[in-house]
Amino acid sequence: MSILDIIEKKRDNKELSKEEIEYFVKTYTNNEIMDYQAAALLMAIFINGMTHQETTYLTLAMAHSGEMLDLSTLNKIIVDKHSTGGVGDKVSIVLLPLVSSLGVPIAKMSGRSLGFTGGTADKLESIPGYKTDIGIEQFKKNIEQIGISMITQTLNLAPADKKIYALRNSISCVESIPLIASSIMSKKIASGAQKIVLDVTVGKGAFMKNKEDAKKLSNTMIQIGKLANRETVCILTNMNEPLGYAIGNSLEIIEAVNFFKGNMPEDLKQVVLELGSYMLKLAGKGDKLEENKKMLLENIENGKAYQKFLELVKNQEGDISYIEDISKMPKANNIKPVKSRQKGYVQEIDSKEIGKLANMLKDENDLTAGIVLTKKVSDRVEQGETIAYVHANNENKLIKACEKIQDIIKIAQKEVEKEKTILEIIK
Ligand code: URA
Repeated sequence: MSILDIIEKKRDNKELSKEEIEYFVKTYTNNEIMDYQAAALLMAIFINGMTHQETTYLTLAMAHSGEMLDLSTLNKIIVDKHSTGGVGDKVSIVLLPLVSSLGVPIAKMSGRSLGFTGGTADKLESIPGYKTDIGIEQFKKNIEQIGISMITQTLNLAPADKKIYALRNSISCVESIPLIASSIMSKKIASGAQKIVLDVTVGKGAFMKNKEDAKKLSNTMIQIGKLANRETVCILTNMNEPLGYAIGNSLEIIEAVNFFKGNMPEDLKQVVLELGSYMLKLAGKGDKLEENKKMLLENIENGKAYQKFLELVKNQEGDISYIEDISKMPKANNIKPVKSRQKGYVQEIDSKEIGKLANMLKDENDLTAGIVLTKKVSDRVEQGETIAYVHANNENKLIKACEKIQDIIKIAQKEVEKEKTILEIIK
């Protein structure tokens, strides 16, 4: 078999066989083919798509490219969660300790920033000391000890996805249904999830720009889940404006800690409760979704979710004094308020544009830069009122961002209706 024949076949929009897909995944993972050859094939897949069958073969080959985590010794149902990516998306950081505090074991492997979206692993690493690469044995031990561990993909779990994910990010090959579906489902299958809840984001700051594509992606992932015997539920959520107010690694940790203390932005709260209620249902903790939401809220109010978050951070060598006194969290050198030039109502905050701007603000290895909005779409704004704070270590970037943000946060004269956060559930 030759990689050239495989590229040519996909370039000419023909269906690849199981053997051809397995050959590509194996040789690329083992560094036996070049990045440019893999890039050519990924771009051909991006342009010509894949059948359900091809996508399933790709997913399973990627899932089996490294170790397959066996969590059966825990004797509990393992329910995992993943998002298709968004801006200001700190859902995993609040949701997973919350669900774990209700007795559901959480074994979470998170990604890094992809395109204009943020990555949970980078956000967790903004907590001084927090280690996301702790090794499989420690990962399992942590789950056994405290019921939760959140790591990144440095382990030998789905290594093919790790390589392909990074390559896609460098060649503008992210927004593809078969590539996103196989990337997400391969990680979930390899990390031992028996049941899966997926946050499929839709809108300007998501890879799926409309509901129709989001439904196609959902159905593809549900199909793969069926074939791999993993029950999968997809929740379509709105990503036209950023989730919550903070965009940027340490800034989102601060917002997450405030969430545990009861300061919950409405859209973030809705996503957390909806996903959480399904996670509890799939884990056998209760069939009634509204009752499940009440249990989740109770564990925020009684502080159990926050305690679980502290345990998680401590167990992964994070310094919890930064969480206990959130004002200690590392901050950018410059924090500048942006004032509205007019009065009216916030009409739009394009989350892709603001996500790109937040990324632009960062210097290399800078986990403190970002943007904190003070308004959401439909909020009233007065002239001269602060609409956002820009955090940056680089002054030039700060000045540029303060100007650009004026164009991104659009103000209308008439009242603006709020959009729905939870759009649809697909099972
Ligand atoms: N999240 C992933 O893990 N992979 C993708 O391709 C997109 C979002």
